[in-house]
Amino acid sequence: MQVELDKQEITELLKSSDRERADLLNRAQEIKDAAVGNKVYFRGLVEFSNICSKDCLYCGIRKSNGKVVRYNASDEEILAACRFAWENRFGSVVLQSGELSSPAFVKRVDDLLKGIKKLSKNELGITLSCGEQTLETYQRWFESGAHRYLLRIEASNRDLYYKIHPNTEKHLFEKRIEALHFLREAGYQVGTGVMIGLPFQTYEDLADDLLFFKKMDIDMCGMGPYIEHEETPLYQYRHLLKSKQERFDLALNMIAVLRILMPDINIAAATALQAIDPAGREKALKVGANVIMPNLTPCDYRKEYLLYEDKPCLDEDAELCRNCLEARIELAGSEIGYNEWGDSKHFQNRK
Ligand code: 5AD
Ligand code: FES
Repeated sequence: MQVELDKQEITELLKSSDRERADLLNRAQEIKDAAVGNKVYFRGLVEFSNICSKDCLYCGIRKSNGKVVRYNASDEEILAACRFAWENRFGSVVLQSGELSSPAFVKRVDDLLKGIKKLSKNELGITLSCGEQTLETYQRWFESGAHRYLLRIEASNRDLYYKIHPNTEKHLFEKRIEALHFLREAGYQVGTGVMIGLPFQTYEDLADDLLFFKKMDIDMCGMGPYIEHEETPLYQYRHLLKSKQERFDLALNMIAVLRILMPDINIAAATALQAIDPAGREKALKVGANVIMPNLTPCDYRKEYLLYEDKPCLDEDAELCRNCLEARIELAGSEIGYNEWGDSKHFQNRK
């Protein structure tokens, strides 16, 4: 059932519009149903700190953005959010933060992992998204209970990567690739992804991104539209951008083609889709995505975790968010995988 497509064919699919596009999206949905079923898995997202040592040109919480009020949620707040996820049968949580690598940070994450495992009687699955770390750190966190890790490559074309991360003291393309290999070596289900519609990005770059995912044999993917943020350097290139609607449509095409290329991986319906279209994530669930990450970050902190403009759910409390999501997913015709980790079938099939 797996379909091989070359760069040219992928590029054409990404560009497809109207009737061709309807075929593409339908085909992706059929492949998804056959390979991973119709269930959607919840991952409660806890953005526990916006303190970041890096300086990505697109990101609102980059180190050089002095306008952000930096926060570090307390252990109690983080564990309370995870307890909410557990009590509401979410199955798993994602701990995400800016990137730090101090011993104190590494230990803190380690302690949190142990705390989450304890409070949920080992039931909650845990995904981490805390940036590039050493193999030893990844191994330590794995031993403490994390079993999935998200580290987006952001752009798999080296030149484009350096256009959006020019500070080579902080950002090295090879190190990022190496980190993805470390994650695999440490035993994680490995997730990566890219932003779609970046300035300077071509359709061919996006086709190569998909082929990169395939080559890296990833287990999970999260990718969404690039959305400008006024307090970041990349904002000056906004005249080069496709319209938000075009970026949104292209993101759905990317999800659909990836589902065709890698039928049994987990694909997240990225939050950035919802920043463009209120029903954006549900639309993604209909064209190949099978994971959604309801935001459980304590409300007071959400407005300080603005990676991009118009980030949704800023003033909803966790309960409200869940209710609205549940209704919407049912509308989108999917079933919710309550109490399940919803591990990547691709990962399981590799073993
Ligand atoms: N637009 C869209 N996505 C962004 N991210 C960071 N900044 C932006 C932006 N301006 C994404 C990155 C990162 C993830 C956590 O959020 O891909 O890996
Ligand atoms: Fe924090 Fe990119 S700005 S990792």
